[in-house]
Amino acid sequence: MKVSVILGHPNKESFNYAIAETVIGKLKASGHEVFFHDLYEEGFDAIMSGYELVNSVSKDMLVEHHCKEIIEAEGIIIIHPNWWGQPPAILKGWVDRVLRKGVAYDEEKDEKGAGVPIGLLKTKVVMVFNTSNTPEQRELEMFKDPLETIWKNCIFDFCGVKNFHRKMFRVIEVSTLEERKEWLREVEMMINEHFC
Ligand SMILES: Cc1cc2nc3c(=O)[nH]c(=O)nc-3n(C[C@H](O)[C@H](O)[C@H](O)COP(=O)(O)O)c2cc1C
Repeated sequence: MKVSVILGHPNKESFNYAIAETVIGKLKASGHEVFFHDLYEEGFDAIMSGYELVNSVSKDMLVEHHCKEIIEAEGIIIIHPNWWGQPPAILKGWVDRVLRKGVAYDEEKDEKGAGVPIGLLKTKVVMVFNTSNTPEQRELEMFKDPLETIWKNCIFDFCGVKNFHRKMFRVIEVSTLEERKEWLREVEMMINEHFC
C-alpha cells in the first residue's frame, strides 16, 4: 500500500517526531511504500499564490509533487501538535495548496446553482495523530475539540474519506518517559490495526 505520512513539527527532538519515526518504521516493516514529508525540513511554502487559486495548478513543483502523491495514496497519516486548536500554519498551508479542487474534491452545481462537494480522494484510510497540553475534559468542555471537527468533518469527510481515525496524546508537558513509550506502543497498535 502507498502511504503518505505528513509531519508538521519544527523540532526533531519532539514527541511528534518520535510518532512519525514510529509510524514510518511500522509501515515499512509491514511492507508498505512510504512517502514521508517533514514539511519544515523540506521548506514547504504555506502560502498559496493568486495564480494557484484561480488556475488550480501550481508553479511550485513541490506542491505538484505532493498533489500527485496524495492522488495515488492508499493511506494518509498526518502528525502535528495542537497549536491554538489548529494545525501549525505550515500544515494549514499544505491543506490549502495540496488538497485543492481537482485533487481532493470537486464541485457539482445543484438546481439552484449552489456548489455540492464531491470527494475525490481514493485513500482507503486516514489517520491523524495529535499532541497537546490540555487535559481531555477541559479540551472537550472549553474548546469542543476543534481538531476533530477540522480534520474529520471540514477536510476528510468533504474529500470523500469515511474511514477516519484520530488519536490525541496528552498532556505532553507533564508526561513521563514510560507514558511516552506506552503512547508509541499505542501508535504501533493503531498502525497494526488499520494498515496490516
Ligand atoms: C504556538 C503554540 C500554540 C499552542 N497551542 C496549544 C493549544 O491551543 N492547546 C494545547 O493544548 N496546547 C497548545 N500548545 C502546546 C503544544 O500542543 C505542545 O507543546 C505539543 O503538543 C507538545 O508536543 P511536542 O513535544 O511534540 O512538541 C501550543 C504550543 C505552541 C508552540
